Amino acid sequence: MSEPLAGKTVVLGITGSIAAYKGAEVARRVMDLGADVHVTLTRAGAEFITPLTLRTLTGNPVTVSMFDAPDEWQVKHVSLAERAAAVVVAPASADAIAKLALGLADEFVYALVLATRAPLVVAPAMNDKMFAHQATQEHLQQLRARGARIVEPETGRLASGAVGRGRLAEPETIAAAVAEVVAPGDLEGVRVLVTAGPTRERLDPVRFLSNRSSGKMGYALAEAAARRGAEVTVVSGPTAIPAPARCEVKRVETASEMRREVLRRFPKCDVLIAAAAVADYAPATVEDSKLKRGEKSLTVKLHPTKDILADCGGRKKEGQFLVGFAAETEDLLARAREKLAAKKLDVVIANDVSRAGVGFESERNAGYALLAGGEEIELPEMEKPAFAERILEVVVAGLQGKRRRRRKR
Ligand code: PMT
Repeated sequence: MSEPLAGKTVVLGITGSIAAYKGAEVARRVMDLGADVHVTLTRAGAEFITPLTLRTLTGNPVTVSMFDAPDEWQVKHVSLAERAAAVVVAPASADAIAKLALGLADEFVYALVLATRAPLVVAPAMNDKMFAHQATQEHLQQLRARGARIVEPETGRLASGAVGRGRLAEPETIAAAVAEVVAPGDLEGVRVLVTAGPTRERLDPVRFLSNRSSGKMGYALAEAAARRGAEVTVVSGPTAIPAPARCEVKRVETASEMRREVLRRFPKCDVLIAAAAVADYAPATVEDSKLKRGEKSLTVKLHPTKDILADCGGRKKEGQFLVGFAAETEDLLARAREKLAAKKLDVVIANDVSRAGVGFESERNAGYALLAGGEEIELPEMEKPAFAERILEVVVAGLQGKRRRRRKR
């Protein structure tokens, strides 16, 4: 099993929710990824699960009250805050989420969150009505805006017996989120250019041709690269999702605008990741006024757009690394390999976009990374942020390989 958290300290805060007993499983899963886990219980959390269970499981002392040994606590919360690679609050009750959002510090875990600069993961668990309440949602929004990763609760049977949204996410999903926020820093100093989202090809002032790309895949890649230390620029088509954190974003609309902005930036980038779904055809003419409805059928002439990625492949300098995507509905691997060779890519990510629940618009993706050297890596179905991490692992390995080969010459 890979251990992305090996050598890292992770603080787990367990708060007052009936799901607190699952905190033990969260600790276990985070430990499975190699982390040294330190648990802190709020007073309410300690009503649901004992410190003894968690101390035995993690091998580390468990903090409950800040006032048991105040001197020790002062030292401990600062030293843990400095050592922590991530803090995860799971389960996070409505009360915990409110306190985290407001910056209160009446329990060890909240004080630690204020004292640390480590990334924060919050996994809510509560009654569905409490979760849906505007106050809880506004607090979660504040935490998101500050960069916290919220691991959304699932829909299922709740403690009340009712079925609703508020059940703690699976412990392995929470552990994966922790691994994702702990940046390995392996793209420090690397300039990454990402294309994302769809393009819109105008027909007249109010109509356009476009596709179902949401930008989620490209934005997940951009955020993940930035977390690993890269300097990231995203050239993005129109999307309805929040801009990726810590990235410069250049908004464009058409394929030709995207091409202009990408080609302008390409010579200075080390890695290009082309996740955008660029239109292959655009209307030959754009009407100045709105097309009128008529009884006769209407024929629109389309011209092929220029292939941005192929142009970049043709201009690629030694040391630059190109990742393309291939969105296919049939002959997935064969077609993806053709694109890999034709566009002079280092890697192509083959997406089977005919599969339900993955690819365009969805939260998840699945496919293969096909490498120029012939290697084929299966990327099983997973959330797009996790999928992005896997792609970046391939990119990091590829860049290291290129550097090694250059040094040998
Ligand atoms: O945005 P999401 O909803 O999260 O969905 C993600 C995705 C399914 C859009 C993404 O994972 C994906 O597969 N993106 C590529 C979609 C696509 O246009 O594939 P393609 O096989 O048509 O193009 C191959 C490659 O050439 C792509 O890297 C594309 O960006 C690039 N291209 C295509 C046409 C063109 N004129 N210029 C290009 O650069």
